[in-house]
Amino acid sequence: MEPAIRRLAIVTGGGDAPGLNAAIRAVVLAAGQRGWACHGIRDGFNGLLAPAQCLDEPVVALTVQAVHGIGHLGGTILGSTNRGNPMRYPRRQDDGTVSEQDRSGELVGLFRQRGLDALVMIGGDGSMAIAEGLYRQGLRVVGVPKTIDNDLDRTQQTFGFDSAVAFATECIDRLHTTADSQHRVVVVETMGRYAGWIALHAGMAGGAHAILLPEIPFDIGVVADAIARRDAHGWRHSIVVVAEGALPAGGRREVLEAAGAGRAERLGGIGAWVEARLAEATGKECRSVVLGHLLRGGPPSAFDRIIAARFGAAAVRALAAGESGVMVTLAGQAIATVPLADVAGRTRRVPVDCDTVRTARELGICLGVRDPADARR
Ligand code: F6P
Repeated sequence: MEPAIRRLAIVTGGGDAPGLNAAIRAVVLAAGQRGWACHGIRDGFNGLLAPAQCLDEPVVALTVQAVHGIGHLGGTILGSTNRGNPMRYPRRQDDGTVSEQDRSGELVGLFRQRGLDALVMIGGDGSMAIAEGLYRQGLRVVGVPKTIDNDLDRTQQTFGFDSAVAFATECIDRLHTTADSQHRVVVVETMGRYAGWIALHAGMAGGAHAILLPEIPFDIGVVADAIARRDAHGWRHSIVVVAEGALPAGGRREVLEAAGAGRAERLGGIGAWVEARLAEATGKECRSVVLGHLLRGGPPSAFDRIIAARFGAAAVRALAAGESGVMVTLAGQAIATVPLADVAGRTRRVPVDCDTVRTARELGICLGVRDPADARR
């Protein structure tokens, strides 16, 4: 039998998302009720693997006082990084090139040296893959799913997504009035990596006229025709929401920075691409706006605060019940756990035949394809 937990570690990994602090607070409060002390590892695992890089204490005691009043704050008090995967840790060589090194065994050793008994890992698909790897190396670990992209498998929703959609919707509302006044086409690029959840939900909520998703490669001519039809009706402005991972049929994704040692590729630029093509095809004045990291900042919505708190408390509950190697998940209205192995490295994209996509089509929103059946291929 595993020894009792006395010291619990918390780490936040990957891109930050609204709700991280609410989750940290929940873990600390729920663990405190069980008499467990909590310790936060700074900047992903850099607090253990690269402590000299941390400006503050690399592993910090998380007392009830330390998490007082943080539940409504954006960001993460622990810091985060999406370039600190212990299995693919970037290492600068003497010749200036960067290679990847597996430092996971060393990490487990450092974890134990600090007297830490278990880990709550809060992150996205990359973090869940790391958590699974550490579990296989003997660490007691429970994952908590976060990401604005909502692209984690086996959970109905991640926290951060609701806040990102709410802010994107507010931006689209504002863009309607300026686009309308100037009779322009405004293209709004959202984050979301290879999944179109943010674009789809914000586009629907914000009354976009076209929504372009990574899951449905688009034909720019179809979007231009939809805009021309609106013009013919006397509706002289159009809002086009495009996910950063969307791509033209037969074309390629817009990439800002290619993948490198220890880091994934950075997407971006499709908004400007669509703007230029639509200006050419429609002869209208077009503008594009990239919502980018604005979607990650700011306070979490009430929904995200609650789900983050439920996930955090559930992670402690799972550990107390002897579970490990699992991720807490939202299943309908209930919280459950699923094996990390079922989640690790997998992503969930928008099913092109889901009810929200179908509704968009029924409302006459252009999805960039001529025949609705194309959207199902
Ligand atoms: O996964 C969250 C996310 O915000 C993606 O939507 C986006 O592609 C990526 O992170 C951006 O990462 P970075 O912070 O490295 O620019």
